[in-house]
Amino acid sequence: MKPSAILASTLLATSMFVAPSLASAAEINVYTTREPALIAPLIEAYTKSTGTKVNTVFMKDGLAERVASEGESSPADILMMVDAGNLVDLSEKGVTQAVESSVLSSAIPAELRDGKGHWFGLSYRARVLYAAKDLDLASFNYEDLADPKWKGKVCIRAGQHPYNTALFADYIAHYGAEDTEKWLAGVKENLARKAAGGDRDVAKDILGGICDIGIANSYYVGLMKSGKGGEEQAKWVEAIKVILPTFKNGGTQVNISGAAVAKNAPNKAEAVKFLEYLVSDEAQKIYAEANYEYPVKAGASIDPIIASFGELKVDGKPLSEIVGHRKQASELVDKVGFDN
Ligand SMILES: [Fe+2]
Repeated sequence: MKPSAILASTLLATSMFVAPSLASAAEINVYTTREPALIAPLIEAYTKSTGTKVNTVFMKDGLAERVASEGESSPADILMMVDAGNLVDLSEKGVTQAVESSVLSSAIPAELRDGKGHWFGLSYRARVLYAAKDLDLASFNYEDLADPKWKGKVCIRAGQHPYNTALFADYIAHYGAEDTEKWLAGVKENLARKAAGGDRDVAKDILGGICDIGIANSYYVGLMKSGKGGEEQAKWVEAIKVILPTFKNGGTQVNISGAAVAKNAPNKAEAVKFLEYLVSDEAQKIYAEANYEYPVKAGASIDPIIASFGELKVDGKPLSEIVGHRKQASELVDKVGFDN
């Protein structure tokens, strides 16, 4: 065969191979570190309303590395993760692509998505105050954690845990490193016990009389109150009330669960459609309520346990800026010996 004939037959073979898949139902591939149970109801609802098949690959960690190693032949369309830092890492590793969508940019507040469209927050959790139920306290600022009046009364998990380094990074965004160091040293002085354990242990230790207040994530209250965490935890949570703390010059610190479109997504248009579905009222309700999170879209339904905390004002510092202070926050934790 002449080269042109070979080319023609190759093209013919290729188009014969490709044509049926173009004609068949749409399909997308989602890589995620989220728990299957949290994602399944959404995918079911999406497939039911659009006919699009959603294949999911669940992994505990190493998502960015896997997509990077698959390179151009990666089947991943959507990458879903928790924590703005992880989403920023994805874009910095070059495995995401920019998406322009007025549906996404109008549904998601600017501080909860990447300015260049490389990742989008879909739900968020707040770092809130758990306080002893009978404590005479109606409002709280993060700055107050260092107030000597709380000496020996504060419980919190390790300062090096990502939930806390994100909070401390937000503090840096507001006040700079020098003031954050002083504040962290003050919080350390106020600890009732070593900074350790999990967020739910704050409620446990308030019940045990070890501390009066502590910082923990909002969704754990839903998990404990609903009974999903078991009988013990249902008792712990009865000992506390939740106050939504704010920065004196800002709002409540939050972190997101979110998603990005993979750089080499074979089904980009379908992937964007799926993301747009995830910010619909229907999906926001399913997605947020599955893990007692806040929906990103204003007006979307919130679980009654979470709604009972009162109205939340998200801190205005962009997550992309806060993430940039994580390393410094982690260094300050070591410098003041927070976890010692
Ligand atoms: Fe958690």
